[in-house]
Amino acid sequence: MESKWLAMVLVVLSLGSGLCDGCLEEERFALFQLKPFFEFIDYKFQDLINDDFVYEKESSSNCCEWERVECNSITGRVTHLFLNYSSNMKIDWYLNASLFLPFEKLQNLSLRGNFITGCVANQCFERLSSKLDKLENLDLSDNHFNNNILASLSELSSLKSLNLAENVFTRSNPTNESNNNWMKLKELYLEGNEIESLGSLFHEGMKFNKLEVLSLNGNLLNNSVFSSLFELSNLKSLDLSDNQLEGAIYTKHLMTFQNCKKKKSCPFENLNALSNLEELILSGNEVNGFIPSQGLRLMNLKHLDLSGNGFNNSILSSLATLSNLKTL
Ligand SMILES: *[C@@H]1O[C@H](CO)[C@@H](O)[C@H](O)[C@H]1NC(C)=O
Ligand SMILES: *[C@@H]1O[C@H](CO)[C@@H](O)[C@H](O)[C@H]1NC(C)=O
Ligand SMILES: *[C@@H]1O[C@H](CO)[C@@H](O)[C@H](O)[C@H]1NC(C)=O
Ligand SMILES: *[C@@H]1O[C@H](CO)[C@@H](O)[C@H](O)[C@H]1NC(C)=O
Ligand SMILES: *[C@@H]1O[C@H](CO)[C@@H](O)[C@H](O)[C@H]1NC(C)=O
Ligand SMILES: *[C@@H]1O[C@H](CO)[C@@H](O)[C@H](O)[C@H]1NC(C)=O
Repeated sequence: MESKWLAMVLVVLSLGSGLCDGCLEEERFALFQLKPFFEFIDYKFQDLINDDFVYEKESSSNCCEWERVECNSITGRVTHLFLNYSSNMKIDWYLNASLFLPFEKLQNLSLRGNFITGCVANQCFERLSSKLDKLENLDLSDNHFNNNILASLSELSSLKSLNLAENVFTRSNPTNESNNNWMKLKELYLEGNEIESLGSLFHEGMKFNKLEVLSLNGNLLNNSVFSSLFELSNLKSLDLSDNQLEGAIYTKHLMTFQNCKKKKSCPFENLNALSNLEELILSGNEVNGFIPSQGLRLMNLKHLDLSGNGFNNSILSSLATLSNLKTL
């Protein structure tokens, strides 16, 4: 019995020593393949924050010890890549997403702030969909991606959180249809873009059944945005601050949703629009009332932020109908 334990301990130790001088060879190789695009992949963070740019290179040959890389301590596989602000390119460029294929156990990938404008031909995020099935959090914020990227991203079926803030999403043409439809996506951040309407941003076949958090702060949306939101039955938090909403919010807009022409049951589905919403942020608009009886059933709303809307007392009576409201 004891010798069995000893043997196991020895096996574990020898496995451990096999890892201690580095991440897996193929992943290390893949990191160096990324180096021409993400110049600072083997540099420490803190030195990049200074305006002076005192770059300090990583000293370890074990890439799992680099600040921008995090590995599973047992398997040595890369689980997180923090490539935020790590490109030295100051002009727009196109990403070859296939370069991330070797990182099969990747959970978090940040490409924030790298001047990326799209993908090279046929090498976009859909390429990762079958192999990177642990990828849950993708941060593409502060780049120059536009609507064309959405179809490709929607095929990443393991994604739970997607950050597309501060890119150049506009209204333009709907994106192409895809099969996977953001199956697990819970959080979507789109603040600081130039979005005028969601109906034109997302293909009508795209379904966000699990979406709980949607941030659209700082876009160009008007009241018609509510008509595109009714299918988000699980939405808990919605941030529409600093847009162009005005007047009373009600669901006449829902009834005019373009898709309703095709779906006969549409007006009835609308009755539960946003019924799970707990937080609604409308600050920095011109909203002055709600007419819940007409369909926006905000019966679970707990937190409502209406600051900076310039409304008068008449809004209070319409708020009285929101029975679960806790903070305002
Ligand atoms: C990149 O992101 C990591 C993790 O969020 C953070 O600790 C680091 O400071 C960021 N680095 C830069 C240069 O922004
Ligand atoms: C993209 O990267 C993959 C994997 O390294 C490579 O096989 C392919 O040739 C690259 N494609 C382009 C267009 O750069
Ligand atoms: C991974 O991403 C999620 C969502 O953005 C974040 O909450 C979490 O802190 C990230 N993990 C690490 C280690 O940075
Ligand atoms: C969408 O489909 C059209 C026609 O099939 C194609 O020309 C176009 O490149 C596709 N766009 C994207 C972003 O995949
Ligand atoms: C709201 O925005 C949409 C999309 O840009 C536009 O078609 C519509 O006319 C606008 N509605 C109002 C009331 O301004
Ligand atoms: C308050 O606002 C409503 C809606 O804009 C308006 O109809 C009403 O006249 C206003 N009341 C006062 C006292 O300004």
